[in-house]
Amino acid sequence: MQKDKVELSTLARMKREGRPITMVTAYDTPTARIVDAAGVDTVLVGDSAANVVLGYPDTIPVTMDELLHHTRAVKRGLKHAMLIGDMPFMSYNVSVERAIENAGRFLKEAGADAIKLEGGGWVIETVRRIVKAGIPVVGHLGLTPQTAGMLGGYKVQGKDAASARQIYEDALGLQGAGAFLLVLECVPDRLGTLIAGKLTIPVIGIGAGSGTDGQVLVYHDLVGIHAGFAPKFVKRYAQVGDLMQKAVESYCREVRERSFPGEEHSFKISDEEYQALEKAIQ
Ligand code: KIV
Repeated sequence: MQKDKVELSTLARMKREGRPITMVTAYDTPTARIVDAAGVDTVLVGDSAANVVLGYPDTIPVTMDELLHHTRAVKRGLKHAMLIGDMPFMSYNVSVERAIENAGRFLKEAGADAIKLEGGGWVIETVRRIVKAGIPVVGHLGLTPQTAGMLGGYKVQGKDAASARQIYEDALGLQGAGAFLLVLECVPDRLGTLIAGKLTIPVIGIGAGSGTDGQVLVYHDLVGIHAGFAPKFVKRYAQVGDLMQKAVESYCREVRERSFPGEEHSFKISDEEYQALEKAIQ
């Protein structure tokens, strides 16, 4: 289990040595403590916070201030995992200057070690400039949820030669621009393996097969906090949502039947003390 603080060089070494890198999302301090203690290498405060914990329909509405707030909370729970903040939609799309400023806020105001942003094409130049400003950057290609509408919805990407080629060229572009890590989402497993094999930076897959240099899952999917729809690439390692609901049902039942709180949960005073206070409040 990883115990030292995970640095950029740690991840580069893990790729060279063929040791898979683990990443999970977290949005609050108790979750950060759990995943850090479990030995995860990198923690992403994803813009998935929008739909996973903030109740938005997708990732579009979440703001810089909301993600900074969650990133700060996660920072307080981490001892050794690398902390990556996710740039929300429109925080890097308007101008390079605005992108650098917003990326910097994740490091200065929330204690992140690095930032992630989605896309290739014009985003590559923005990545180059953010890296030049001294901010470590994680790229994100394949299915990019912020622009899912333009990709034809939440679909597997890179299934034909032309789109696979585009993803590969964008991956090379991001690597050339100085990105130190790439998240590759929802592509055929063989494309995931191919791109991870061609890049020198680690490629973290989510729905990209087992041949990438590591994996990322959304924490709430992994532990089964909600029982609703899960994409094919999700493996539920537990169903803690059921357990949590049962706990709250038991609490409600015990309150209604007056079996909670019990003697052991109540603060006691002597008869004399009681008589004194009873007299005082008459
Ligand atoms: O926002 C997020 O949680 C992500 C991961 C699923 C890669 O981008």
